[in-house]
Amino acid sequence: MGEDTWTAVDEYIARQLIGEDAALDAALQSSAEAGLPAIAVSPPQGKLLHLLARSIGARSVLEIGTLGGYSTIWLARAVGQDGHVLTLEADARYAEVARANIARAGFADTVETPEYFSWALQRTRSGGLIVADNVIRDGAIVDPHSENPGGLAARRLHEMLETEPRVSATTIQTVGLKGYDGFTLMLVD
Ligand SMILES: C[S@@+](CC[C@H](N)C(=O)[O-])C[C@H]1O[C@@H](n2cnc3c(N)ncnc32)[C@H](O)[C@@H]1O
Repeated sequence: MGEDTWTAVDEYIARQLIGEDAALDAALQSSAEAGLPAIAVSPPQGKLLHLLARSIGARSVLEIGTLGGYSTIWLARAVGQDGHVLTLEADARYAEVARANIARAGFADTVETPEYFSWALQRTRSGGLIVADNVIRDGAIVDPHSENPGGLAARRLHEMLETEPRVSATTIQTVGLKGYDGFTLMLVD
């Protein structure tokens, strides 16, 4: 059992619980055509973000790392007509692709994209959720000798969480069509 099985299971979950979705499928297709890397969240992960946002009645969402806007569309669908999603993308070319995908999905007025973001926690209300994706990185998080920047960042995040009294957090390992990775879920008290 390995990556082929993880991918097949993710595809089964997506077929059974998500189905075809014109706007999301178009966002992935146009991202691939524009040469963006295939590192968006998987469909089940996108739906998880959507359900988490809905479950806390989120009307205001901050996303760091838009890529082609795939996860942004999932989040925009969760916040309702009067809600908004603030999404930050460092690469201007990716942001252009995302802008078109988000507009095609009908959320041009829901999603705003400023240039920089400094400190998520100070902007998150009590009862709000912060989700950090890609924190396991094939196990790099537990390898003190790893020079994988994502692994180092994930270790720093966990060191901060150890001493941050405002946040209750857990990290879940995942396998799927994106391989072996995981996410950290943080509830702001
Ligand atoms: C894994 S991708 C995001 C995938 C996207 N959330 C999705 O699921 O569709 C990470 C993105 O973060 C962007 N990024 C990296 N560092 C950043 C920063 N400091 N500020 C904003 N975006 C950043 C990268 O350019 C890349 O597009």
